[in-house]
Amino acid sequence: MAQETARPADASGVYRLGGDLPVNRLGYGAMQLTGPGVWGEPKDPEEAVRVLRRAAELGVNFIDTADSYGPFVSEQLIRKALHPYPQSLVIATKGGLSRSGPDDWRALGRPEYLRQQTELSLRHLGVERIDLYQLHRIDPKVPLADQVGELFLLQQEGKIRHIGLSEVTVEQIEEARKIAGIVSVQNLYNLADRSAEDVLEYAERENLGFIPWFPMATGQLARPGGPLDSLAKELGASPSQLALAWLLRRSPVMLPIPGTSRVAHLEENIQAARVALSDAQFQALGQAV
Ligand SMILES: NC(=O)c1ccc[n+]([C@@H]2O[C@H](COP(=O)([O-])OP(=O)(O)OC[C@H]3O[C@@H](n4cnc5c(N)ncnc54)[C@H](OP(=O)(O)O)[C@@H]3O)[C@@H](O)[C@H]2O)c1
Repeated sequence: MAQETARPADASGVYRLGGDLPVNRLGYGAMQLTGPGVWGEPKDPEEAVRVLRRAAELGVNFIDTADSYGPFVSEQLIRKALHPYPQSLVIATKGGLSRSGPDDWRALGRPEYLRQQTELSLRHLGVERIDLYQLHRIDPKVPLADQVGELFLLQQEGKIRHIGLSEVTVEQIEEARKIAGIVSVQNLYNLADRSAEDVLEYAERENLGFIPWFPMATGQLARPGGPLDSLAKELGASPSQLALAWLLRRSPVMLPIPGTSRVAHLEENIQAARVALSDAQFQALGQAV
C-alpha cells in the first residue's frame, strides 16, 4: 500500500468531469442509505449521516445518488449530513425512473416528468445547480431527443451543470451526443461482469467519465470466502479493496462509487485507493473472477 494519509481517497487520482469539475476518482454511491428495496428510511439514519460525513473526511468528493433512492431519502440525507457543501464536493444525481414500491423501478422519460424531478432534486439537495444530472434510464416509449433535449434545456437554464447517461449502449451515447454534451456514462461493470467493456472503451477514447455501478457486484466480491478471498490474503488487502483497486487500475476514466450503509465498510473500501496493483496482480485478478 502507498503511504498512509488521513484522506485515502486522494490517492485514487483526480478526474475532471466535463473538463471543469475535478473529483477524486474513488467516490461513494448513496443508494444503500435507504430502507429495504431502496424504499423509505434506512434502519439506522444516524449511521447513514455518519457514513456521509466520514466519506467526506476520507477525501471522497464525488457522491452518486438519485431522486428514486427512497425516493428522495438519499438526497435528503446528503443534505442533512453535508450541507452547506464544501466547494470541492460534486454531487451527481439522476432522474428518469419512477417508483411505485420497494424494488419497483419503471423508466419514465417524459420531459415534464424529468423537469419536475430535476426541480425536486434541486430542492432536496439544497443546491441552485446540479453538478451532474444523469438520465437514469432511457425510456423506450419517449423519443431520446425529447428526454436529452429536456435536460439540455435545463442546462441552458442553469439548473444542471453537466449531463450524464446510465445503462446505455455506444449507439445510444452517440445519438444523445447529437442533442447535448454528455460528460459521463454509468453502466453496470465490475470484475465479475464486464459486459459493458465496449462502452468503457468508448468512454476512454472520448474521455467521458465511466461510473461503474455495482462495483463490488452488490457485495459478492467483498464477502469473505468469495472469489477474491485467497488473493486478498496473499496481497494483504481485503476482497473489497481488490475489487475497487482493480477498477481504478483498469482505466483513468473509471470513477467507482462503492455503496455501503456502514462506516466500517466505508473505511475499508476507501483504503482501496492506496492499494497499488502490479501488472501481474492486475492480470491475476482479471483472470481470477
Ligand atoms: N445507474 C444505475 O442504474 C445504478 C444501479 C445500482 C446502483 N447504482 C449506484 O451504484 C452504487 C453502488 O452500487 P451498490 O451499492 O448497489 O453495490 P456495490 O457497491 O457493488 O455493493 C454494495 C453492497 O456491498 C456491501 N458492502 C460494501 N462494502 C463492503 C465491505 N467492505 N465488506 C462487505 N460487504 C460490503 C454493502 O452492504 P453494507 O451496507 O452492509 O456495507 C452492500 O450490500 C449505488 O450506491 C448507486 O449509487 C446505480
